Amino acid sequence: MTIGILAAMHDEVADLIGAMIKQSGNQVHRIGMRDYHVGKLDGQSCVVVLARIGKVAAAATAVTLIREFDVTEVIFTGLAGGIGRDVAIGNIVIADRSVQHDMDVRPLFPHHEIPLLGRSEFATDIALSAELKVATELFLKEDFQQSVAPEVREAFGIKQPVLHIGLIASGDQFVADVERANGILADFPQALAVEMEGAAVAQICFEYDVPCAILRTISDRADASAHGDFGAFLAGVASHYSAGVLRRFFSGR
Ligand code: ADE
Repeated sequence: MTIGILAAMHDEVADLIGAMIKQSGNQVHRIGMRDYHVGKLDGQSCVVVLARIGKVAAAATAVTLIREFDVTEVIFTGLAGGIGRDVAIGNIVIADRSVQHDMDVRPLFPHHEIPLLGRSEFATDIALSAELKVATELFLKEDFQQSVAPEVREAFGIKQPVLHIGLIASGDQFVADVERANGILADFPQALAVEMEGAAVAQICFEYDVPCAILRTISDRADASAHGDFGAFLAGVASHYSAGVLRRFFSGR
């Protein structure tokens, strides 16, 4: 078994790569301008890679993980904008399914349908997502207070973060205005969060029959202050969440 872990931004995987180097050492394979870090976390084989931003980058990286490194499971970790009513900054969302909110091949195919695959939604793996849920709950209960300093929590208005499970909408767009967020919600009333990669990875994993999971920390509310909130969250908090939950995930296996 080898687990592939990918993220869009350096800060989301840096701590994990650091832990891998400390625990097992890492071999770095450079393919398609990306560094694939091969090693072990808590004794388990994994490949950690910075995919970069957007659906193309994520899909290309997921294919490489599957074809070149034979990963048997894929986890995408990163940040997202909360658009669900109670999905606040500092909360965590695990996708049970994902859609590409910007896919539009009308009138040839129904709105949002992925042409020739006959579907718009891609489910994530139930068992893998359930493992991540346990890891997230442990992280929030046991580690969160020490991982994220009180002044940082205060600055972001984070009290006790909540875990949400449901629909994530992906598109090649940083959503930073309420009208656009509401437009996505009008199309997908159950959407909890928007980001730029998850549904692409879920589609590739569907096509290759590899289990996948999507874990997202909410950095902003996809509104006019989204870019500022996102930047601050990325710099100060993102890695604590990402590494914290995944360390719990690996130690629980
Ligand atoms: N990732 C984090 N915040 C986001 C947003 N508002 N839109 C798209 N992707 C995001």
